Amino acid sequence: MMNYNAKLSSFGSYAPKKILTNFDLEKIVDTSDEWIRTRTGMVERHIVGDDEAASDLAYNAAVKAIEASSVRYKHIDMIICATISGDHPFPSTACIVQKKLGMKGFPAFDVSAGCTGFIYCLDIAKQYVENGRAQNVLVLGVDILTRITNWKDRNTCVLFGDAAGAAIVSRAEPSDISRIIDSFTDADGSLGDYLIQQAGGSRMPASHKTVDENLHTVYMEGNRIYKYAIKSMYAACDELLKRNNLSTTDIDWVIPHQANLRIIEGLAEKMRVPLSKVIVNIEKYGNTSSATVPVATDEAIRNKKIRRGDIMLLTSFGAGLTWGAVLARY
Ligand code: UT7
Repeated sequence: MMNYNAKLSSFGSYAPKKILTNFDLEKIVDTSDEWIRTRTGMVERHIVGDDEAASDLAYNAAVKAIEASSVRYKHIDMIICATISGDHPFPSTACIVQKKLGMKGFPAFDVSAGCTGFIYCLDIAKQYVENGRAQNVLVLGVDILTRITNWKDRNTCVLFGDAAGAAIVSRAEPSDISRIIDSFTDADGSLGDYLIQQAGGSRMPASHKTVDENLHTVYMEGNRIYKYAIKSMYAACDELLKRNNLSTTDIDWVIPHQANLRIIEGLAEKMRVPLSKVIVNIEKYGNTSSATVPVATDEAIRNKKIRRGDIMLLTSFGAGLTWGAVLARY
């Protein structure tokens, strides 16, 4: 039941200081700056230091999102964190961030939906705000995939970076122009084996063998995933546009998952949206999994590209396989 409208109050983001360039990767595996640039659009990515974990990055992004809004710390009444590389299997990274922020007395939990995690979390937060059970949900997207990367596998190790993004989903006042208009999420579990961390869970617990065979790292069949990426993000965006009687000309900004520049360009072409309306920052961050969409949105807001009142389509795709989109007037 919908008693209220939800809006995106603010965004924040944080990336660790250390930068790994394509040229640095040339020294680690048999690759080249030219291959990485032309096949993915990536130039450099941020990676964590030994003393940093997911909650540290997420905390910094959360503080920035809170500072960018009129919401006070005491008004946050839920934390939902999208991650597949949290500090620990349990407790949740959302609970650890809650503690770091000095908060308690409300629910905090993680959501596992691969690179689509942030979109899933926005969809959940929207419903909590609309039904009145929460007023200001802190939504986090954080991943440190470089901790679960096989640095001997050139197919995957050049792709990932570390970062966190945050957004506050708040109850909209009747006078607000900002509103989350609609959201859509979907999954096809039959395709799960294409993108998987095989060991470390109850199916294949950690053992000397799993460590020796690098089974705790990201396994991805990039080629197979590629064809679903454009198709599924397009389907999610198309569903939201149709459902709301909008066309792509009504959209000011598309903010897609940053996994590959060719995927982003393919999506823009299929949607018939000019690239000037698509937010791209993959060259600086690589694929930061659930952080790509909030980091790109936050940067575009801070650079004054995205302004209050603009219509945005956020969309992502990832492990599960999962996909989804959020349509919002900022
Ligand atoms: O965020 C979650 C969702 N993930 C995605 O959406 C990822 C989707 N997939 C992709 O972005 C692309 O498939 C990749 C970037 C992962 C790979 O690009 P591709 O154009 O599909 O390359 P490929 O896998 O077909 O490999 C082409 C060639 C192969 O060599 P041969 O067999 O043709 O001789 C690979 O061995 O490129 C080779 N290759 C590399 N060469 C240099 C693969 N990785 C590298 C590398 N450096 N890092």
